[in-house]
Parts: sequence; C-alpha cells; structure tokens
Amino acid sequence: MLKTIKVVAAVIRDGGQVFATQRGYGDYKDWWEFPGGKIEPGESPQQALVREIREELAAEVEVGPFIITVEYDYPKFHLSMDCFWCTVKEGHLQLLEHEAAKWLPLGDLRQVAWLPADVLVVEEIERQTEAETQARRPEMLTLQRAKELNATMVTEDHLIVHALNVSYAMGAMARHFGEDPEHWEAIGMLHDYDYQQYPEEHLKHTEKPLLEAGVDPADVRAILSHGWGICTDVEPQTDLEKSLFTVDELTGIIQACARMRPAGIKDLEVKSFMKKFKDKRFAAKCDRELILKGCEMLGMDVKDVAAICIEGMRPHAEELGIAGTAEA
Ligand SMILES: [Fe+2]
Ligand SMILES: [Fe+2]
Repeated sequence: MLKTIKVVAAVIRDGGQVFATQRGYGDYKDWWEFPGGKIEPGESPQQALVREIREELAAEVEVGPFIITVEYDYPKFHLSMDCFWCTVKEGHLQLLEHEAAKWLPLGDLRQVAWLPADVLVVEEIERQTEAETQARRPEMLTLQRAKELNATMVTEDHLIVHALNVSYAMGAMARHFGEDPEHWEAIGMLHDYDYQQYPEEHLKHTEKPLLEAGVDPADVRAILSHGWGICTDVEPQTDLEKSLFTVDELTGIIQACARMRPAGIKDLEVKSFMKKFKDKRFAAKCDRELILKGCEMLGMDVKDVAAICIEGMRPHAEELGIAGTAEA
C-alpha cells in the first residue's frame, strides 16, 4: 500500500482571482499548484496552512472555508490534500520557493498546466463558482414581483395609481421599441419605490433594498436614472431609461387631461393633450422641461410619446380611475 502524505493547500483569493504557483523543483518541476505543504505532527490543517504560506510566500493568510479534500495516488505515494479558501491578511506574496506565480481569473483557471491532484481542486472551484454565479444571477423582474415589492413601501392610492400610469405607459413604449413590455412595465411599477417613505430622500433608499431583493442591477440602475439631475446623477442611457425619465412626468399630464373629460381617457386625443401640455398652468406640477429633455434624449416628439402613452393607458382606464362617466 502507498504511504499517505497529508498536506494542505491554499486557494488564495482576491476578488475574482486566485493565486497559482509554479513548482521550481523535483519530479513535477514547472507544473502549477496551489501553494501549501505537509501538515506537521500536532498541527491542525489551518495552522499548517498559515505556516506554509509564511514559509513559501512570506505573507500572512486568513484561512477561510474548507473547499475539498483531494485524494490522489501519485506513483510513489498517496496524497490526501485539504484545501481551503484563503485571503492575504498581511504582507505581499513573494516567491521564496516557487519559480513563478500568477493570479488567474476564476473563470479561466485552466490556462496553466496543473499538477494532477490540483486539477481536482480546480474542478471543485469551477463547480463552486458556477453555483455562486447561478445563485447571484438575478431573475427577470416580473410585473407581479414588482407589484409585490412596491406594495411593501407604497400604500397611498394616488401613488399606486401613478405607479400604474407609468407602468402601462412603459409597456407601450416597450412595444414601440420592440422590447419586452412586461419587463418595462415592471420597472415602471417600481420606479418610485421609496418615494412615499422618503419624499425628501427620493431614490436614496432604493438601490440597497432592491439589490438585496434580487432585482437585477441593470433594472435598479434604470430606476435610479429617472431622477437624473433631480435627485441622482445616473444619466438615462438606454431606450428604457430615457422612456422612464420622460413618461414619469408626461403621464401626470395625461391623467389630469383625462380627469377633466366626461369620457375620461377613452376619447382623449393627442391634440387635446398638446393644448394642455403648452398651458404651463395646467397640471403645473408636471415639469415640461423634464419631459422635453426626455423626448430630446429619445429623439422623439412630445406628441408621439404622448400618443404611445395614451394608447398604453387607455385599456386600463377603469383601474386608473380615468374612465369618466360618459360614453366615448
Ligand atoms: Fe420619482
Ligand atoms: Fe414617478
């Protein structure tokens, strides 16, 4: 039976990279490995690792979670290698025993020739990092999920109606651009997530909770961008972001127009909307400058954006409280 040698190895990680070393001696000279070495009698694997890295790389490491114990038969011995995630706590890694070293991205570990036992460690790291990215990969924000999240913060009727106005207008803008209406509606639904609770600090209480709730960072960015120049410095860049920036204020004027009419939004035409748009005293709180700035970013006329929004909101007249009482 082969003699078993108990060793430890450190997968030293810095962000998305791990530290690989090239062996400068022995049968496996020039092959790559994770640094480490033999466990001395009386040592725990962790203690051995701290000592080995101090001896080999002149740095102090913090030993983190256990990764795997690799069991491997080399021709002359059986290797039992405990591997741990590590981070450098003090000092710079210096090569006291190895002939070379490299930081390798977690996604591209196979660019060096690993020792046979270390290949098994690489396989396990690949498995773990894949699971990590799977767990972090945000799901598409559905309208249902956006409504649930919004309901945890927004309870006032007029704010819920505003969220719905923007949501339906966004859905129509998505159809105009050939994008996914439900996704755009979800963003519209959630855009004023923190406004009721923090009117004076609007959008300052949005990023962290939404990211923690698993909302895609790109979606959070889109939400933040509707406050560009007002309460955030996130400039709208995509069609989605520019649309949100524009329809946020624009739907307010549409709603006010529709409320004045016997048949509500049912027979509201862009012509009537434009008249009210130009009358700055009408729905004075809706900032025309912002709407025009948004349209300029979109490269569209106000009347064309308004037509799209009206079409998007009209089928939901009842829910939005703008169905009027008369027939259209
Ligand atoms: Fe807002
Ligand atoms: Fe808003």
